[in-house]
Amino acid sequence: MTTRAPRCLLSRSFPLPPLTAARIDRFEAEMAYADTTARSLVLGPAPAPGDINLRSNDYLSLGRHPELVDAQVKALVESGNGEMMSAVFLNPGNPQFDLERKFADLLHAEGAVLFQSGYQANTGLLEAVACPGLPVYIDQMAHASLYQGVMIAGADLRPFRHSDVEHLLRQLRRYGPGIILMETVYSTDGSLGPIAEIMDAAEEFGCILIADESHSLGTHGPGGAGLVVALGLQDRVHFRTASLAKAFCGRAGLVACPRRLAPYLRFTSAPSIFSSAVMPHELVGFARTIDIVQRDEYRRVRLHRNADRLRSNLDALGYNVSASASQIIALEAGSEQSVVRLGQALNARGVYGSPFFAPATPKHRACIRLSVNAALVDDDLERITAVCGEIRAAVGLAEWASTRRKGRRRTPLQREPAGAGAGGHLPVAQAVRDEAGGETALRQAA
Ligand SMILES: Cc1ncc(COP(=O)(O)O)c(C=O)c1O
Repeated sequence: MTTRAPRCLLSRSFPLPPLTAARIDRFEAEMAYADTTARSLVLGPAPAPGDINLRSNDYLSLGRHPELVDAQVKALVESGNGEMMSAVFLNPGNPQFDLERKFADLLHAEGAVLFQSGYQANTGLLEAVACPGLPVYIDQMAHASLYQGVMIAGADLRPFRHSDVEHLLRQLRRYGPGIILMETVYSTDGSLGPIAEIMDAAEEFGCILIADESHSLGTHGPGGAGLVVALGLQDRVHFRTASLAKAFCGRAGLVACPRRLAPYLRFTSAPSIFSSAVMPHELVGFARTIDIVQRDEYRRVRLHRNADRLRSNLDALGYNVSASASQIIALEAGSEQSVVRLGQALNARGVYGSPFFAPATPKHRACIRLSVNAALVDDDLERITAVCGEIRAAVGLAEWASTRRKGRRRTPLQREPAGAGAGGHLPVAQAVRDEAGGETALRQAA
């Protein structure tokens, strides 16, 4: 198997400026397949019908939900594509404001502002609250959009080791008050951020805390309100952001914030001012999705049960999945070549995850991310487990650095904090009864 591409596979007919050509050379050499397509290493074959797709972030399996699809089709027929203008020109009474209220209520927040994506929500918020010279403490595994927001604001980037509160405290003592950035569920390895401890540190040093809930909104907490609410910290965490392209299955992003910040954010952050507003049918889709997410507790119950089962099966097979305490489970093969080999072995047996390389992961800690969803049934989990068992020797599992670390681990698998999971807020018997009723809906979604 070769993964290194010869230099400059692309046509040389159009003369490129040397600076651009050098960058393309580097991409082709380091990140592309060694064939004539120059396709990125992240791209494998597409799943075929009958394959198991663990690439999607549609955790609650809502993408094809008839209520959601019908509501959007009806809105599209009624309103077309809308006015095609920035959200700053939306008049009072516009449905976007009703949706923002609905999201604010879901998150137990005073206010919420909708952005065109989670990426824009993070950059827009940071641009509005950070400034040149301000220290911004960022978890090393936080999403690229948070890093980007710090750069745009011209603030001082102060990374701290992943979920290492002691390291954060040392930085705080050194550089003083500023902004702390974290995710509640980390998108690459599914670990949970130590929200309460980081909140305590933020308060001790007079910092603002911004928690990205992209991978916990909808999937965790009462009615899908997220982990901050599950932990009762909604009145202490200053800002929560989220991509709505995960459990909410649409294209937009959100900032939950104090009431007074909402107009300021809407009228001063560049993505809000200089990019067009979310479309009418998307607004309707999200309003419907909130109802379904709040109502269908069984989806969360099923999601977490599936994730727990798969995680413990993989653990028993020898994979080091100890970082994961959520629906995201990473198989950390380490090098890019090992990840490509692992991806090919899984794909050949009908299982599809998402390859993640640096800079999305730390260098030498590349992985295949498996995103578990609510529609997986026991047969699917058994099939994934069987495939992962079968390929161990072929993918060199025993030689992975993550496997060696597992050998040294003393503690049992990490678990969600009490009250953070799905069943904590609905009597479990009730949720299981609902789940039986929801079986058909989940199968339709699969
Ligand atoms: C933690 C986190 N924040 C923000 C984003 C950006 O979301 P979007 O795809 O809506 O721009 C993502 C998406 O990958 C994410 O995982």
